[in-house]
Amino acid sequence: MFIPNFTVRSPHVRYTEEAIEATYRYETTQVETNGATGEAVAVPTTATYHFRTGRHVGRVGLMLVGLGGNNGTTVAAAISANRRGLSWRTKAGTQSANYLGSILMSSTVRVGANAATGEEVHTPLRAMLPMAHPNDLVLGGWDINGADLATAMRRAAVLDVGVQVQVEEELSSIKPLPSVMYGDFIAANQASRADNLLPGDDKGAHLERIRADIRDFKATNNLDTVIVLWTANTERFADVLPGVNDTADALLASIKASHAVVSPSTLFAVASILEGCPYVNGSPQNTYVPGAIDLAVRHDVFIGGDDFKSGQTKFKSVIVDFLVQAGLRPTSIASYNHLGNNDGRNLSGPSQFRSKEISKSSVVDDVVAANELLYPRGPDGAPNAGPDHVVVIKYVPAVGDSKRAMDEYSSDIFMGGTNTIVAHNTCEDSLLASPLILDLALLAELATRITYRTPEMGAHTHFHPVLSLLSYLLKAPVVPEGSPVVNALFKQRACIDNTLRACVGLPPENDMRLEQRAHPTQPMGRLGVAAAAAAAATGAAADSDTAGAGGGAKGTRAEAVRPAIPAKAFGGEGAVHGLNSNAWNANGMGNGGSAEPGGGGPAAAAPPDAP
Ligand SMILES: NC(=O)c1ccc[n+]([C@@H]2O[C@H](COP(=O)([O-])OP(=O)(O)OC[C@H]3O[C@@H](n4cnc5c(N)ncnc54)[C@H](O)[C@@H]3O)[C@@H](O)[C@H]2O)c1
Repeated sequence: MFIPNFTVRSPHVRYTEEAIEATYRYETTQVETNGATGEAVAVPTTATYHFRTGRHVGRVGLMLVGLGGNNGTTVAAAISANRRGLSWRTKAGTQSANYLGSILMSSTVRVGANAATGEEVHTPLRAMLPMAHPNDLVLGGWDINGADLATAMRRAAVLDVGVQVQVEEELSSIKPLPSVMYGDFIAANQASRADNLLPGDDKGAHLERIRADIRDFKATNNLDTVIVLWTANTERFADVLPGVNDTADALLASIKASHAVVSPSTLFAVASILEGCPYVNGSPQNTYVPGAIDLAVRHDVFIGGDDFKSGQTKFKSVIVDFLVQAGLRPTSIASYNHLGNNDGRNLSGPSQFRSKEISKSSVVDDVVAANELLYPRGPDGAPNAGPDHVVVIKYVPAVGDSKRAMDEYSSDIFMGGTNTIVAHNTCEDSLLASPLILDLALLAELATRITYRTPEMGAHTHFHPVLSLLSYLLKAPVVPEGSPVVNALFKQRACIDNTLRACVGLPPENDMRLEQRAHPTQPMGRLGVAAAAAAAATGAAADSDTAGAGGGAKGTRAEAVRPAIPAKAFGGEGAVHGLNSNAWNANGMGNGGSAEPGGGGPAAAAPPDAP
């Protein structure tokens, strides 16, 4: 069953004009280890979080660095085509504008089970909380190449001509703002593109100009929020030098002094942070030198990165997780790809390739580190290096944006066997990356409206400025210092889904489905009970063909014999989100509608308008 949106009815959730407020019990496990005895004890822990999500989305602007590139022009054309509901003819039939590949626009989450039928109920991910729609984004940005976006879109050769011709008039009116290009950060083969540069080489002046661009864009378009996102060429790594870019103050001084170590992408990050705008890095380079992270923390502005996780790496972060979780031991991963777009041309520069190689190589680290049965430590206690992992990228102009990715995964299996999986993927690179840009921007904007407070905290605050919530969309996620990096794709996705659920006071999806596994003689399952009640209400026979979970499909024997028990016994009103809700009340951890645990006050009814 599909529902386009929903509201939550719970004593722990309150809707006001401005915000959705939820008091949420976060349950996790801490493990205490004793170094001397080797004893380990797992301790369940509970913390109360009070979430507040602003309901006013406002007008959102997205400024792309690299606006005239394949991704930038594809995003621009796609927004225009979707906004106008365009269709175009291709040799395979009529194609319509869509947002396939955007998790917010095209994926759903399970909300719960239908109280009457037990059927699974799904809703769009974007319906979990109020979010901006990509059609409403105001787009702008910079490029070192001055071509208008219609010309740049034709050069990119990503989209069908049938859609290009319909959006080119609109796109021809958009011209990228001038940008900066320093030293050898991007490959020398990009120099011929650079006809739209800010004058001079004073990095301090460039910073002020970029900051002014952001302010002007915001004021001219009457925007509430601006997100700045780097989708320009991959840069080489920047050196991290003590006293130069290792602290916020050092970095700001180095920009003022036009120090050679400051890259264009770091300069844009600093400008964005100083303007209070979230900044996302879609390329692999180390834009976030320690000084940039320090600055983001100091100004409490979100930064996210690095490197869009669009095709080959996304697949890798699934398949290696699957193999290791299956108890098989990957021994080698050989990843080869060739591409013919301008990104590929730039990556033919050795130091730019090196940035990509680093970003692509770390993607299985957390999966390997999680299983010391398969990957035991060395005799000296050193972590296992994991499978051999090689990444090759070649520039083959003829294939254009249709990147070919070929991967071979070899694994040790039962009793000395070897399992080898080979995958070939023709990616259409920018068509995979562009929806990620939209998701990153919309999630970053959403994060600016979410605050939380624990009972120990005086006031609400945002999440940590290093926004690891975005990890699903990125190859080499940047995380707060001391936090583990999670690369496994479905864990990353669960993080987004469950965080959004928490913001509306819903428990995380744990897939235990206890109510569906009740023993036939023990009527513990709410779903079966509700299904039987619904069948009774409609006069249908509660027999094995109608009463089961699964939306009226063949019922299981277990449901058929389960006696009907009033739903009230399991919580009734105000407890529609599961058995938890009442148990929580009963334990005195919340009461009749107060948004605060232990607080008093009458039940706050949810207004009928959906979040
Ligand atoms: N599937 C994907 O497409 C994918 C996946 C992961 C990462 N990426 C990264 O996204 C980036 C963009 O990819 P693309 O295919 O659009 O590349 P592209 O070469 O088509 O576009 C990059 C644009 O950035 C511009 N540029 C370079 N330096 C600039 C600067 N300092 N300021 C402003 N503009 C600048 C270039 O002129 C170009 O128009 C690349 O770094 C790529 O590695 C892409």
